[in-house]
Amino acid sequence: MLHLIAEPPVSSTQFFGGSLLDHSEANAYRANFNRASFQFAHSLANHELFELPRLLELTRLMKSGDMYFNAGDVKEGQRWDAIAPTDLTIDEIIDRIETAGAWLLIKRAHRDPRYEKLLDEGLAEVQRFVGDKFPTRIKKSDALIFITSPNRVTPYHIDRECNFLMQIRGEKTICLQDRYDREVLPEREIENFWTIDNMNSAVFKEEYRSRATKYQLRPGTGVHIPVNAPHWVKNDGNISVTLALTFQFPDTALGNVYRWNHYLRKAGFTPTPPGRSKIRDFAKSWSMEAAMTTRRLLKRLRGKEQPR
Ligand SMILES: [Fe+2]
Repeated sequence: MLHLIAEPPVSSTQFFGGSLLDHSEANAYRANFNRASFQFAHSLANHELFELPRLLELTRLMKSGDMYFNAGDVKEGQRWDAIAPTDLTIDEIIDRIETAGAWLLIKRAHRDPRYEKLLDEGLAEVQRFVGDKFPTRIKKSDALIFITSPNRVTPYHIDRECNFLMQIRGEKTICLQDRYDREVLPEREIENFWTIDNMNSAVFKEEYRSRATKYQLRPGTGVHIPVNAPHWVKNDGNISVTLALTFQFPDTALGNVYRWNHYLRKAGFTPTPPGRSKIRDFAKSWSMEAAMTTRRLLKRLRGKEQPR
């Protein structure tokens, strides 16, 4: 399915009465929130805060763990840990973005209050649209900025964040699959995601490529990515700048159930997925939390007993 989005509005936060998002689309937010992807409009198209010189300034505020980048020819089904590291610096990546074949992620852009304002306002608007389906408490929110070279691919993966991805500059195609399709995303892969490796656990399956919904993103359009919805991205022949307003649900208990299930599966059992039995989920979550706390304590004690 290809969603071709009508020509976006001109760049102006005045477009939706000063809002980031279009309140006339509130029903789509409420109907699909964290269940299914959907397209939406926003008012940040070609916004000056996302011009390359401004983003280069932003990187000066960032700590080393806030930025991740690589360059090269990458395929959609490629493992993330198989992407070759690059010798280029952040400055070189941004300077040569037209030709570098690069993918640059700036996390925690909200260290700068101007981007923090966008994050807070955007999520507040989502909360208003979604109403009582929005969680009363969130774990953490984050403003992420992606800068990508022409034709660059972002490989297949899943995330733990609930994401409102907003295209600011350039065009690209994002392919999204159903988070509940257990042929596309088997329980085992979700268990691995929570236990071992959060980038390489979801495995691209060529035979299910056609099940993806394709969204052609242009400046002024966005797409909602529910937690754990598999996706990959292909940039058009242009430089792309994208903002992701994200947050995490309080997901410790859910993660613990998946961790328990990972070890049960390793031991030869077929574990019950979370959500089928509240009592079983509670027992798994509680015991996993206790085991992890004990392990942390033992580790700390062992550290203190190291010979000097
Ligand atoms: Fe993602």
